[in-house]
Amino acid sequence: MDNNFSLSGKIAVVTGANGLLGLQHCIALAEAGAHVIAADIERCHDDIFPEQIRHQISTIRLDVTDSASLSSVRERIVSQYGTIDILVNNAAINDMVEKRDNHIQGSFEDYPLYVWKKVLDVNVTGVFLCCQYLGSVMAQQKSGSIINIASTYGVVAPDQSIYLKKNGERLMWKSPVYPTSKGAVIQFTKYLAAYWGEKNIRVNCISPGGVFAYQDEDFVENYSKKTPLGRMANKEDYKGALVFLASDASSYVSGANLIVDGGWTII
Ligand SMILES: NC(=O)c1ccc[n+]([C@@H]2O[C@H](COP(=O)([O-])OP(=O)(O)OC[C@H]3O[C@@H](n4cnc5c(N)ncnc54)[C@H](O)[C@@H]3O)[C@@H](O)[C@H]2O)c1
Repeated sequence: MDNNFSLSGKIAVVTGANGLLGLQHCIALAEAGAHVIAADIERCHDDIFPEQIRHQISTIRLDVTDSASLSSVRERIVSQYGTIDILVNNAAINDMVEKRDNHIQGSFEDYPLYVWKKVLDVNVTGVFLCCQYLGSVMAQQKSGSIINIASTYGVVAPDQSIYLKKNGERLMWKSPVYPTSKGAVIQFTKYLAAYWGEKNIRVNCISPGGVFAYQDEDFVENYSKKTPLGRMANKEDYKGALVFLASDASSYVSGANLIVDGGWTII
């Protein structure tokens, strides 16, 4: 049974690898035996990865919204490794409590059109383009596993009350575009799972809940109270789900949205 989860000999690409969860995805896949290409629009420094897995990581600059960037990355990966077995579409723009930006965290009525378009470009078009350019390598070889990172906010609407402090101060309004983009990712996942089933490519998504990142303490309390497990996620909480979907342990799972949220979406 243990061998079902092994990714030994597999080549994996993770986008947004420089971020909070992207790094954890790289670590999880490498710990399961894969060689991981850590891709991000920003430079990933080797020293963000634990020393014991560093030899299994290659870093690469990639803008998921740019066809030319994707084309050259695909060429480099195929010429160096000959294959892509696993693709984790993780790069995204997310408006978070811990990254205060009043300009893009205002009310719906004043939400700027250019931010709406930018977020859709990265979060939705970026997933589409990565699948088109990198997933096509899988289609040629007739095998592969694609994992799109969605969100609980692609499943349920944001509860805007959790962004209110006890003293009545509003930390932010969760944007209209982030949930819209993640809902699209979940539906696109189903589209591609149906389309590429005949190519033996499994396409699934993970919908994570909110990750603890030293946010405002009232927010953490509000979030935790709404969660059956009584806490926000730790950044390591998604590693098991990712390795499951990447590996043969999930060989008959395709088109699924694996919700990993401590129960947030059930109530
Ligand atoms: N952190 C959470 O609480 C949470 C909850 C649910 C879902 N998610 C999802 O998990 C994923 C990772 O989130 P995170 O918290 O690690 O975010 P993060 O902001 O820490 O990381 C996002 C990464 O994406 C990269 N990126 C942005 N635009 C890019 C582009 N055009 N091309 C390539 N890379 C680009 C950024 O440089 C960054 O390194 C996202 O899809 C997010 O929506 C996060």
